[in-house]
Amino acid sequence: MTQEHSRISKAVIPAAGLGTRFLPATKATPKEMLPVVDKPAIQYVVEEAVSAGLDDVLMVTGRNKRPLEDHFDRNYELESALEKKGDGDRLAKVRESSDLATIHYVRQGDPRGLGHAVLCAAPHIGQEPFAVLLGDDLIDPRDPLLQRMIEVQEIYGGSVIALMEVEPEQIHLYGCAAVETTEDADVVQVTGLVEKPDTAEAPSNYAVIGRYVLDPNIFDVLRRTEPGRGGEIQLTDALQQLAQDERIGGPVHGVVFKGRRYDTGDRGDYLRAIVRLACEREDLGPDFRAWLQRYVAEEM
Ligand code: G1P
Repeated sequence: MTQEHSRISKAVIPAAGLGTRFLPATKATPKEMLPVVDKPAIQYVVEEAVSAGLDDVLMVTGRNKRPLEDHFDRNYELESALEKKGDGDRLAKVRESSDLATIHYVRQGDPRGLGHAVLCAAPHIGQEPFAVLLGDDLIDPRDPLLQRMIEVQEIYGGSVIALMEVEPEQIHLYGCAAVETTEDADVVQVTGLVEKPDTAEAPSNYAVIGRYVLDPNIFDVLRRTEPGRGGEIQLTDALQQLAQDERIGGPVHGVVFKGRRYDTGDRGDYLRAIVRLACEREDLGPDFRAWLQRYVAEEM
């Protein structure tokens, strides 16, 4: 079966959002550039794509997103200043982001929703299955999810989404999937999808998290998808059509993720992500953990 499917090599990262939850920090700085410890959030996402073997990355950007392009480009001035100082460590850090992957950019123009952002990738993607990574979700590199989703797509064909069980009162924040089990313990067949349902209407507590491996037929479906929740063209609505009729672009499966995920789109979760990741860093962790313990004991 595997050989019937072309190897997935392209990733799409929608990055046109306004980041209003982080104002005023995001007035002149894209939310994707906010640091998580000492790296912009978006760099973690590109690194994740690259470690899953996707080295062709398309970012769907918009107005005020130039810093993203600069971050993944060379910075000769800074590089030569660091070279003159003989500061090899920092020079390596500067070069890391520009050496990561081949990054392409397309602008969304009118931000009409996630489905519309994905549709902007159609000319770049062509007829191959491809991955979509949402920048607000950081997946801990120790719990690889995308690799597994690509594997599952190669076995089952069609599209694969990432699901995580959440408390029923949280489901209104996510796309929600109706599912049936398969013979693989971590894989479910998706039989229906609804974007951000009320708890009472949710078909399950399986929340869609921001990783997708999509069949290219999704583009035709997206072209026909009317604006849904929030007046936006929803990727969830297009996937619902695929899930309901396998003839359009194959089945939709879900990989149930039980690993560590950090939501950097929410201010509270963003702070928690920084604290957790800082605690685990070899260079910063020991000092930071000791301080945090004292802080909690004395100030809380
Ligand atoms: C988007 C999707 C939603 C998904 C979520 C995951 O929503 O529309 O289905 O559950 O990402 O983070 P957003 O959070 O961008 O509103």
